Amino acid sequence: MGRFIVDGGAHLKGEVKINGAKNAALAIIPATLLSKKPCVISNLPNISDVDLSFQILKTMGAKIEKQDEHSVMIDTSTVHKTEVPFELAMKMRASYYYLGALLARFKEANVAMPGGCNFGVRPINLHLKGFESLGANYEIDGGIIRLRTTNLTGAKIYFDVVSVGATINILLAATTADGVTIIENAAKEPHIVDLANFLNSIGANIIGAGTNIIKIKGVKELNSSDYTIIPDQIEAGSYMAMAAVTRGDVLIKDVTPKHLESIVNKMESIGLKIKKYDSSLHILSDGDLEKADVTSQAYPGFPTDMQPQITAVLTFAKGTSIVTEGIWDNRFQYVGELCRMGAAITVDGKVAVVEGGKILKAAPVEACDLRAGAALIVAALGAKGQTEIKNTRYIERGYEDIVGKLTALGASIKKV
Ligand code: EPZ
Repeated sequence: MGRFIVDGGAHLKGEVKINGAKNAALAIIPATLLSKKPCVISNLPNISDVDLSFQILKTMGAKIEKQDEHSVMIDTSTVHKTEVPFELAMKMRASYYYLGALLARFKEANVAMPGGCNFGVRPINLHLKGFESLGANYEIDGGIIRLRTTNLTGAKIYFDVVSVGATINILLAATTADGVTIIENAAKEPHIVDLANFLNSIGANIIGAGTNIIKIKGVKELNSSDYTIIPDQIEAGSYMAMAAVTRGDVLIKDVTPKHLESIVNKMESIGLKIKKYDSSLHILSDGDLEKADVTSQAYPGFPTDMQPQITAVLTFAKGTSIVTEGIWDNRFQYVGELCRMGAAITVDGKVAVVEGGKILKAAPVEACDLRAGAALIVAALGAKGQTEIKNTRYIERGYEDIVGKLTALGASIKKV
């Protein structure tokens, strides 16, 4: 098991280049199944979740050729299987996007029930309700979701909870259904728009992505495409958090500022000076950090995937902050690790009270999931002493070359 060793106290200074968005990549890679023509996808991040999604496609018979460090050619014309192997599906929740993609292409799909994770039960009832509305039947047999249909037919689908995954899965399945599908109360995240743009680039007919009503007119034939995915707003936000606690002076490059508005707004309210350019942000953290109250919510609200990182920042801010988790039941598991470093945070259900102004001290800590791991790196960079962070594999799921990028910014971090 890999460990990061971080010596706190360095002021981050310089430039960092943001890679493509993990959650856009994890939706667009399965979406290439809808076309029998080769697609080139660029600006893909080199992270383990993307590698896993490539592995799933290859196991089903797809051809994937690296074009350069961040782009691949994917040809799914040779795909002949409709089953995602259990041992691969279990490694990543987002493997359930293969349900919608395989159903759209082959009218059947077999994917293992996604594992839960440590921030609470993660149901997929909305996904299954959506597939049934389109005319598919499902059964769960030995932990595998088996979807079948004779014909996918457009339908009006209302999600009573805003769900990124369910919106993505129904976007995929409805793309080749007969007739029109309307998704109401759809998720509006940037990666939903990116998926819709990719699908339209291969010939789909989708309008309204990014609003809460998406209309999909089914098409039968899909073509090839050369598509570049959006930058990762959560990776960008994570580096903003790292600059915040190290009195940093950092240019964060290759971002889409519009996708970062809620994060920029919150970081400015705690005292960061942020200059916005067309595709980059300059972050200056040259004074004491102020307390702030944060509630994570669906886009365009403050993203839940930045909740652990902002909580780590707030342990350094003066005063008491309240962090409310608006999406997941139990996304404060990492707080115990921050407290081991001297943070004073009490959690009651979906609310964490952060007593700021603490000088965190190094301690051996463990990452329990991807964004919790990022929060521990934030804390370690601002803490005194040498912190050891276990389970680097979680962090490597979503952050390309985090050691190289932080070292280039002047941090002292190494993997052992
Ligand atoms: C996606 O998860 C992301 N994962 C998550 O990021 C992110 O936290 C989440 O969206 C919210 O933005 C990927 O994109 C791969 P949801 P997803 O369906 O789709 C409830 C990361 O670190 N719900 O939007 O699983 C659910 O319980 C990960 O990249 C149902 O009730 O999230 C939750 O309370 C962590 N029934 C709420 O909806 C369903 O059928 C939002 O979940 C589906 C969801």
